[in-house]
Amino acid sequence: MTTQTAEFGVIGGSGFYSFLDDIDEVHVDTPYGAPSDRIAIGTLGDRRVAFVPRHGRDHRYPPHKIPYRANLWALRSLGVRQVLAPSAVGALTPTYGPGTLAIPDQFVDRTSGRAQTYYDEGAAIHVSFADPYCPTGRAAAVKTAATAGWEPVDGGTLVVIEGPRFSTRAESQWFAAQGWTLVGMTGHPEAVLARELALCYTPVCLVTDLDAGIEEGEGVTMDEVFRVFGENIGRLRTLVTDLVQALPAERTCPCGHALDGMKLPLELP
Ligand code: ADE
Repeated sequence: MTTQTAEFGVIGGSGFYSFLDDIDEVHVDTPYGAPSDRIAIGTLGDRRVAFVPRHGRDHRYPPHKIPYRANLWALRSLGVRQVLAPSAVGALTPTYGPGTLAIPDQFVDRTSGRAQTYYDEGAAIHVSFADPYCPTGRAAAVKTAATAGWEPVDGGTLVVIEGPRFSTRAESQWFAAQGWTLVGMTGHPEAVLARELALCYTPVCLVTDLDAGIEEGEGVTMDEVFRVFGENIGRLRTLVTDLVQALPAERTCPCGHALDGMKLPLELP
């Protein structure tokens, strides 16, 4: 067991390794198995930050196989209470071109069969989830991005698909017709597992493509997603670095009270 601790967590692509100083890498085990990879713990200014590469450093876990429960549990066991979650998404809105930054305020779950709770037995625990994201983290993300000159889309609905395939044109047009604005593959169950551990969770979405029903070309390709993400990873890393500094040291949002008054069937780390 490590003696290292961190208050802030980042779950993101492996391009984020280099954003921390004085890194130690730790193996963390959890009742839900191992997280996606070793966790890097380091500093950003005066803040201690733990980083989990969501897909593993060799990108071995596709979105539907990511050990989401282990990742969030491991972060909490290291002391993390505020989580930032950068990810690549497609746009369901024609004006959100590649390179757009979006901080959604809602999501719709279209995944199937993913383990999405810690409270499977022993007691019925129902967390409130009307507003799935940390209000303080969202506001800080919007302000930090705007200050850096990367004016973000503030709000909107991320539809989370099971993947690993991209959507058909019909699915994509249907999502857009519902008023949903972004589409991704990892936003659920990450956010709800964070809430079930009373953690703050803030999505930071980078648009890599117009989804299949929106653009008129051949449809989304993996090459396109990876290329655009790679082109923007530098400024995304800078944004997350600034955002960690902008988050409050002490939480005043409701996230930390998500489990107040509930008789939990397990002990949180
Ligand atoms: N991630 C990046 N682009 C995506 C898209 N169009 N659909 C689902 N996930 C994505």
